[in-house]
Amino acid sequence: MTAPADKILILDFGSQVTQLIARRIREANVYAEIHPFSMSAERIRAFGAKGIILSGGPCSVLDDGAPMVQQVVFDLKVPVLGICYGQQTMAQHLGGKVEGGHTREFGRAELEYISASPLFDGITHKTAQVWMSHGDRVTKIPDGFAPIAQSHGAPFAAIADEARKYYAVQFHPEVVHTPDGAKILSNFVHKIAGCANDWTMANYKDEAIKTIQSQVGRSQVICGLSGGVDSAVAAVLIHEAIDDQLTCIFVDTGLLRANEREQVETLFREHYKIKLNVIDASAEFLGKLKGVSDPETKRKIIGGTFIDVFERAAKDVGGVEFLAQGTLYPDVIESVSFTGGPSVTIKSHHNVGGLPEKLNFKLVEPLRELFKDEVRALGRELGLPEIFVKRHPFPGPGLAIRITGEITEEKLHILRQADTIYLDEIRSAGLYDDIWQAFAVLPDVRSVGVMGDGRSYDYVCGLRAVTSVDGMTADYYPFSHEFLGRTATRICNEVRGIGRVVYDITSKPPGTIEWE
Ligand code: XMP
Repeated sequence: MTAPADKILILDFGSQVTQLIARRIREANVYAEIHPFSMSAERIRAFGAKGIILSGGPCSVLDDGAPMVQQVVFDLKVPVLGICYGQQTMAQHLGGKVEGGHTREFGRAELEYISASPLFDGITHKTAQVWMSHGDRVTKIPDGFAPIAQSHGAPFAAIADEARKYYAVQFHPEVVHTPDGAKILSNFVHKIAGCANDWTMANYKDEAIKTIQSQVGRSQVICGLSGGVDSAVAAVLIHEAIDDQLTCIFVDTGLLRANEREQVETLFREHYKIKLNVIDASAEFLGKLKGVSDPETKRKIIGGTFIDVFERAAKDVGGVEFLAQGTLYPDVIESVSFTGGPSVTIKSHHNVGGLPEKLNFKLVEPLRELFKDEVRALGRELGLPEIFVKRHPFPGPGLAIRITGEITEEKLHILRQADTIYLDEIRSAGLYDDIWQAFAVLPDVRSVGVMGDGRSYDYVCGLRAVTSVDGMTADYYPFSHEFLGRTATRICNEVRGIGRVVYDITSKPPGTIEWE
């Protein structure tokens, strides 16, 4: 994929929220990429940025071996914005001074705008809430700079050298707790760096189609569909580019939710007219899982079986040279970590069903530059129905990790019905889009109850719903008691085999989102 001509380089000094800088800038329709602070001078030059942003980070510029901004950043004569640690390394490098031991500021602080600047263009109020997180602070600003905003704990909360277009802020404009932050970042990329509004999913689609066509030529491509949004968007995009040179493969593991296979068939085969091979491997998966109750063993069996089945399905298509994958940008960003000293690690990426390199295909990864929100926007651009674009994530091992203990056809049947009722109630209450993931689980527990005049001894069904930003941490969703009561009644009445319903109010950590 050819990136737009106007782009911003974000040099990462290890902040937890560096990705948010890129997201805010892309939301302002400008392309931005994140690279480690240690990117070579040659590569920094070759990148061709119209502006450079230095991120925050956990170190102190006063420590030996702290990561430093490189001179090349300033040799390029493009606008530079330092954020938090980025402000400090920039100030120090340009001849200012940073000291520790002052009032520390963590969390909300009040910022006072003290001087007009293109960085604050369009902001008319005098004070604003900002998010701070610093111990050290700049105590002497470099020659050529002037303060443009201050806070109680940071007299140089924002400084500017308007002539050279260098800006540095102590606060974090990229987080939602800084309400003016998106405006400030947008001003930097548009008003100061002069970037055009050319990063849109409509443009991306057109460019990506050309790139796929030139990469693939006349070759055959296969794409494994998981039922999730990433692989679906990748498939529809590739299909627009190369039409029936694409064959999609959907493996029915027998561990899918109710009607999932039919929904994929209808959307891809009937609506998009994409060649789709559905492999019913449920007997193979369930056969291998028989008698297995250890969670990790279940995952290994499912992963291994998936690869075998997919490999056979790919052979059946024949003459395939490329494998399409829905790899996203967060999976490929080189992340900077300072645990135990500065280091740069490349995250291994999870891919559809975890297909190994030994499959020996060349890869087509048309979503490699995109964040999840952008994949959704691209999906809309490609006409994918909203119900598909906004789908909650569903794990590769499927219902197998929502049934604790051994998996049987009977338990799968019970769980599918309960899950359908639960999601049906969530949708009717208009809550689906407020929730990150919601699903029913079937623990290996039976409980006594009374049904009619008799005693019952049926399964307990667990309901889980969480809010989250990235699945790394999560909060349980605060349903009303009325909602929970209604859903529990329906499940007990309508699902034979369930006699009790419980709601999981564990956050993550300590609990994981899934139960296994
Ligand atoms: P946990 O349960 O670890 O889940 O809090 C975090 C996110 O990852 C999904 N998940 C998985 N996805 N294979 C997957 O493809 C897995 O084995 C797996 N385990 C959890 C989970 O649904 C949630 O979105």
